[in-house]
Amino acid sequence: MSDTRLKLAVQKSGRLAEGGLKLLERAGLRFAYGRDALHRRAENMPVDLMLVRDDDIPSFVAGGACDYGIVGENVLHEMQARSSRYREVETALKLGFARCTLKLAAPKGGDIRCAADLAGKSVATSYPGLTRAWLTERGIEAEIVEMRGSVEVAPRMKIADAICDLVSSGATLEANGLEAFETVLESEAVLIRRRNGRNGEVEATAKLLIQRAEGVIASAQ
Ligand code: PRP
Ligand code: ZN
Ligand code: MG
Repeated sequence: MSDTRLKLAVQKSGRLAEGGLKLLERAGLRFAYGRDALHRRAENMPVDLMLVRDDDIPSFVAGGACDYGIVGENVLHEMQARSSRYREVETALKLGFARCTLKLAAPKGGDIRCAADLAGKSVATSYPGLTRAWLTERGIEAEIVEMRGSVEVAPRMKIADAICDLVSSGATLEANGLEAFETVLESEAVLIRRRNGRNGEVEATAKLLIQRAEGVIASAQ
């Protein structure tokens, strides 16, 4: 793989993966569907896709392993809340898909109905950075219980009193008897890059790709 090809990190599977590939294909990229599950080479542009876990994308872009990445603002801002290392990463383009909201929620009919009620309580989340920052800004002292997934089961299992998790349709909250009472972050898919030190040849490709993606996004509105 030569350094003049743009290395773009995209999610291997999940909501972002599907929307991201669709957008890139509409922007005119054609991919060889080869045997390599972690790498896809565009046939008609100097672009290579790296198929990875979405949570790893900001780190790959910050460290220079990839030039650009497609990731949710939820993941980007969580990483930025955790470490100053991610200040080097910026949004090049908002992509208009994978919209979701990071929300605080608690059991329906329980004694937590607003943010202030969280004082002295515990909140389960996969977004400890964003949740902690949001609570601290409001002077609310609550314990954060970090979970990798299935956060909605925490109150029922007495792991935590409330949760802070992504809501899309709201079906998962509903199924677990939870009710959202506060929005922490609105999120959509974004194209990210390093702020400084990008390669000139790669940038020319990126500029063209961004132009085409803007056209696709505008026509989809
Ligand atoms: C996400 C999120 C919520 C759910 C929200 O979970 O963490 O649990 O989707 O979607 P809904 O409002 O449409 O129900 P995901 O499927 O990524 O699983 P995970 O949390 O176990 O990673
Ligand atoms: Zn993830
Ligand atoms: Mg979940």
